[in-house]
Amino acid sequence: MGNEKLKIGIVLGSTRQGRVSPQVGQWVKQIADQRGDAEYEIVDIAEFKLPFLGEGTGQEPALASWNEKIGSLDGFVFIVAEYNHSITGALKNALDSARDAWNNKAAGIVSYGSTGGARAAEHLRGILGELLIADVRVHPTLSLFTDFENYSTFKPSELHLTNVNAMLDQVVAWSGALKTLR
Ligand SMILES: Cc1cc2nc3c(=O)[nH]c(=O)nc-3n(C[C@H](O)[C@H](O)[C@H](O)COP(=O)(O)O)c2cc1C
Repeated sequence: MGNEKLKIGIVLGSTRQGRVSPQVGQWVKQIADQRGDAEYEIVDIAEFKLPFLGEGTGQEPALASWNEKIGSLDGFVFIVAEYNHSITGALKNALDSARDAWNNKAAGIVSYGSTGGARAAEHLRGILGELLIADVRVHPTLSLFTDFENYSTFKPSELHLTNVNAMLDQVVAWSGALKTLR
């Protein structure tokens, strides 16, 4: 393995108009960038305009760009909004829209919702196993009631900082280890 820094994508898991996920993703990125241990970038599913899986030809440039982006990364932090006790349809479609590009990589989860997005995060863990993505244990959970003002302006409690760094420690360690398999 060379001395290149690991590349970690911070994947915004919601695409709806008015979503809060960019605020959460930027917060994670700002913490991550201070560490200097990897190259962190925001990966916004909305920008890729992915077709709904199976409805097109499968040859859409958006699908190729998405696979190229995922393929270029060594690990992920999924920013997970809870919709009906699970992940968003947009995130599921984005996960389904690549396969080999996900394999043998690591991921952390940062979730939010009325119960910290815990139910969505646990659903996501099952999906990640099928994609051969190793999900780390530490999982920062943000409350819509106490970490947001009016459910829309992100004001995270200080206590989450330790957890985000602990999660990133694990993602970086496992991303490096799994790179040796690819
Ligand atoms: C279709 C839909 C279903 C939702 N279901 C849940 C839910 O089951 N549990 C929960 O805690 N929040 C639920 N919420 C609230 C979302 O967690 C909240 O709106 C959050 O801001 C969504 O993230 P986003 O703004 O990044 O899209 C739901 C929101 C939507 C739009």
